[in-house]
Amino acid sequence: MINPVYSPSPSRYENGIRYRRCGRSGIRLPEISLGLWHNFGDKMPLENSLQMAYYALDHGIVHFDLANNYGPSYGSAEETFGVIMKKSFAPFRDELFISTKAGYDMWPGPYGEWGSRKYLMASLDQSLRRMNLDYVDLFYSHRFDPETPLEETLQALVDIVRSGKALYVGLSNYPPEAAAFSYNYLRERDVPCLLYQGRYNLLNREPEQKGILEQTRENGSGFIAFSPLAQGLLTNRYLDGIPADSRMAQERFLKSSALTPAMLQALVQLNGLAAEREQSLAQMALSWCLKDERVTSVIVGASRVSQLEDNLKALDNTYFSQEELSRIDSILAR
Ligand SMILES: NC(=O)c1ccc[n+]([C@@H]2O[C@H](COP(=O)([O-])OP(=O)(O)OC[C@H]3O[C@@H](n4cnc5c(N)ncnc54)[C@H](OP(=O)(O)O)[C@@H]3O)[C@@H](O)[C@H]2O)c1
Repeated sequence: MINPVYSPSPSRYENGIRYRRCGRSGIRLPEISLGLWHNFGDKMPLENSLQMAYYALDHGIVHFDLANNYGPSYGSAEETFGVIMKKSFAPFRDELFISTKAGYDMWPGPYGEWGSRKYLMASLDQSLRRMNLDYVDLFYSHRFDPETPLEETLQALVDIVRSGKALYVGLSNYPPEAAAFSYNYLRERDVPCLLYQGRYNLLNREPEQKGILEQTRENGSGFIAFSPLAQGLLTNRYLDGIPADSRMAQERFLKSSALTPAMLQALVQLNGLAAEREQSLAQMALSWCLKDERVTSVIVGASRVSQLEDNLKALDNTYFSQEELSRIDSILAR
């Protein structure tokens, strides 16, 4: 049987999604974005990746977040996205906000990682080829490189925008001091930093504690949270053991050592509080990030459509009473 040609839902912008302005910019992003770190590589069935991408666009999730080495294997998530572009999304390119990054290990030798001009420029060219794109909406420096002059990395970002290969630039995982220098450098060259991408969830408050969230606001940049579900820990996935098809079972990025008895107990209690709010644990975890107006969007990963469906419902209730917030904090302090 021939697959029908994909046509996005006509009600994709009326399915409950909301958009938030990204710092002081013309861009609004969906409160929930889709990340392709896992689950879109060449080890995953293409059909599953297609269905998740279609479900996203059908529900107004127009922001897709990638990086050069997402997979596994490296590059294969971008290749899968390239197939999706060619097969289905090309007519809707102007409705999409696509980001990619370079910074971590991608190819062997001295030019395959970190922050040199040579690496960043070559990596973006490769990403565009893999994704079947002429340009990305946003290109990130994926991590701060302590050994390359920061001016070199930032000037490469500026020149990438000038070349038309990216419309905006962003920073990810930068310490506050390097971020402060970067915001100024980029602003002075009329290429302001659009977004800072950092890990932020109930279990990791670093962006609050290190002042990164406040720094983004002061500099007119948006903040986008990655791993808002702590890679699946903040969901019902591990409440009754470790499922064979879960990320934790792979023991790569999410290790079973994270699921200590104390952690499990906290998750069970958080799950109870979520139920009182008539939410799943995943929904409560996402709502918790989004209660802060400085957070432009949360980038979720998903291994199946039903998870995306569950996650989108977080937007029905992003309000927390002071009492709920205190209860969450005391559960996690134990
Ligand atoms: N800038 C950076 O350095 C950086 C680093 C990491 C990630 N990111 C970005 O952030 C994105 C998200 O990261 P992440 O994948 O770690 O995010 P996450 O949303 O914290 O975790 C995703 C995992 O949680 C589980 N899950 C999701 N929704 C669920 C639900 N409703 N119920 C039960 N389980 C659910 C799934 O696990 P199973 O697979 O086990 O089903 C899924 O793979 C990445 O794709 C990437 O774009 C950026």
